Amino acid sequence: MPIDEYSGGQRNGSYRVTSSKSVSGCIRVPGDKSISHRAVMMASLAMGTSEIHGFLPSSDCLGTLLAFSLMGVRTERISENHVRISSPGAISLTEPQTVLDLGNSGTAVRLLLGILAGTNFHSVVTGDDSLRSRPMGRVTEPLSLMGASIDGVANGKRLPLAIRGRKLKAITFLNEKKSAQVKSSILLAGLSADGPTTVIEPVATRDHTELMLPMFGATCTVRGNEKTVHPGPLSPLDFTVPGDLSSAAFFMVLGLITPGASLTIEGVGLNPTRTAIIRILQLMGGKIQVTTMESQGEPVGTLHIQASSLEGIEVPEELIPQAIDEIPVLAVAAAFAKGRTIIKNASELRVKESDRITAICQALSSTGISVTELPDGLIVEGGGPAPKIHGAEIESHNDHRITMSMVVLGSRLPPGETLLIHGTDFVATSFPGFVELFNKTAGIQN
Ligand code: S3P
Repeated sequence: MPIDEYSGGQRNGSYRVTSSKSVSGCIRVPGDKSISHRAVMMASLAMGTSEIHGFLPSSDCLGTLLAFSLMGVRTERISENHVRISSPGAISLTEPQTVLDLGNSGTAVRLLLGILAGTNFHSVVTGDDSLRSRPMGRVTEPLSLMGASIDGVANGKRLPLAIRGRKLKAITFLNEKKSAQVKSSILLAGLSADGPTTVIEPVATRDHTELMLPMFGATCTVRGNEKTVHPGPLSPLDFTVPGDLSSAAFFMVLGLITPGASLTIEGVGLNPTRTAIIRILQLMGGKIQVTTMESQGEPVGTLHIQASSLEGIEVPEELIPQAIDEIPVLAVAAAFAKGRTIIKNASELRVKESDRITAICQALSSTGISVTELPDGLIVEGGGPAPKIHGAEIESHNDHRITMSMVVLGSRLPPGETLLIHGTDFVATSFPGFVELFNKTAGIQN
């Protein structure tokens, strides 16, 4: 098996990764993380019972469920991926009697801040070491403009934060950070504001919130790059979450860089604000065929991936914000491409679950890939299609996407070489079942 999990003592779990021989099959990836969080949140604001199918049972999304259950929402796990949420409605949520701990999840805490700001009670939110070091001023500042009362570490710019819920004022806000989390936080706060709240986006970011709000009965309109939400209650919904394209990306790159591979990934969310990674890999020469249909407002479809001769490119700047979560695995694809790949304008990567620019540069260079770290990105000297890589011992920096990206690289090591990755437990934040699915898909060892 390419991945062997072993106890890493104090190091939050470890993997031993060895080469795989072939990659083939038809797989499905778990539910979309962004959409699962939003579905739980909106269902918890809606008075009545909502059913969420295809829910991602990852530690991040389970953390969001737990937070709402601490505010009087009844959450039932009907099966692994089916959650039933019965809520008294936004205005009848109850004050949590303990701190809301959102673990590793920036999406959970930033969106929740928007919701908590407009309640009629007090709450405190925190997270793990990584989340407590991440910037929160990007949401607490605009929420303060709405009249929110939020205070905490670093003048309310880092967790833990205490929120005194109150009636909010509507604002018009320019989303300069190009962040879907910031946009969503403000739109969710807008549900309890005193008039229509507008977010203007200089660059389109993932639009799951704007798509989902009307499905839950809110008035939310999109005019060009202006997204406006009107205050009002939500109503319950039966909703199905598509597979997560960001999780599929690891398997897309695995298929592209493994000689002879032919892989199909079904039921993947193909929202155009998320598909930049497909476009970038295609620009590199990746053979990825896409068939799409529509399901509950979100495009969903099938990807057919074939082993490809990749070429290095300068990644178009405008595609970076919509592929930000896939840059680590894109860097792995770049290592297997012929020539140089340049990734710039990606400084947001420095404030993700880890500093992903440093983390991926360190990991790649430990295995023999030549990389240059830039302030806002990296340059990868590809050695494709068979770069000279060797085994190594690396840190994931407790970052799920660094771990999974390096697993993909490790599966192409020469026979007999091993990649030891530490801090692998965090894969559970976004991709439960990753090891099993990877071993099944790339399971034949040399
Ligand atoms: C997300 C938005 C992105 C992304 C994150 C999920 C979301 O973050 O990196 O994994 O669900 O809204 P930013 O909004 O900080 O760009």
